[in-house]
Amino acid sequence: MLHAPLNPSAYRVLDIGCGTGAVTAYLGRKYPGAEVYGIDLWTVPPLEGGQPDNVSFVQGNFMDTRDPRLGDRMDFCFSRLLVMGMRNWRGYVSKVHGLLKPGGWAEMQDAVLRFFGPDGVEMKTGWIGALRDGAHAGGMDWNCGGNVAEVMRGVGFEGVRRWEYMIPLGTWDRIPEEARQSGEFDGPVSPGASKSLIGKMLKGTYDEDEIEEFKTQAREDIERQPVYIKFAVTVGRKSAPQMFSNTVKGRECKLV
Ligand SMILES: C[S@@+](CC[C@H](N)C(=O)[O-])C[C@H]1O[C@@H](n2cnc3c(N)ncnc32)[C@H](O)[C@@H]1O
Repeated sequence: MLHAPLNPSAYRVLDIGCGTGAVTAYLGRKYPGAEVYGIDLWTVPPLEGGQPDNVSFVQGNFMDTRDPRLGDRMDFCFSRLLVMGMRNWRGYVSKVHGLLKPGGWAEMQDAVLRFFGPDGVEMKTGWIGALRDGAHAGGMDWNCGGNVAEVMRGVGFEGVRRWEYMIPLGTWDRIPEEARQSGEFDGPVSPGASKSLIGKMLKGTYDEDEIEEFKTQAREDIERQPVYIKFAVTVGRKSAPQMFSNTVKGRECKLV
């Protein structure tokens, strides 16, 4: 699930917009020697399977939190699916860069809200256009998963790399057997989550009846054929200062 080549002795880890805290708990178990924090605007509900001892949660807005637990710099900052919450991606990525230790890694997993049929052809039905309108009206970056690599380079991250995945909407039985075997997917986006995504993104741009109509269209599309959403994982490293310099008083010299 993680793509950043993180040092196993990472000491401080942060999951930004941690939601249910499930990924934060995963990070806590993966790095038992680390202090792992999750931050979210909302209180994190009790975790199924318990909260690892090295995990704690901060309630607040990542963009302006002054929580002292996040005062020291991080080895790793992770986020997944901030597409609906984040309005200022450059500000967000700069804030993450500032919070990392030199040499620390950021990993941002987010949506490229484009939908594809099983033949790989991009779908353009009404509900998809409506989602774009809703995202635009709400000030969201519809293609944040696609754009964030450029933003990371712009604020000074190095070693920026990006992977793309197609995540199926619907249920497990819609995922081809070979894709299940390869472990490419964490799991499908459930029909409930797809409906809730449409409801949240269209609220305020369309009225209730129109939103219901778009939900029906989406459900029919997803029932008729497998529908995939594109998802991108982007990693980048905060540069570490060089230990040795080959300049003396501004003049380059040979190391012998
Ligand atoms: C779609 S959920 C994803 C949750 C989790 N990362 C996951 O992948 O399961 C997005 C979460 O980001 C949180 N969020 C959005 N903006 C935030 C901010 N500025 N500071 C903290 N949390 C934020 C929301 O409250 C929400 O719980």
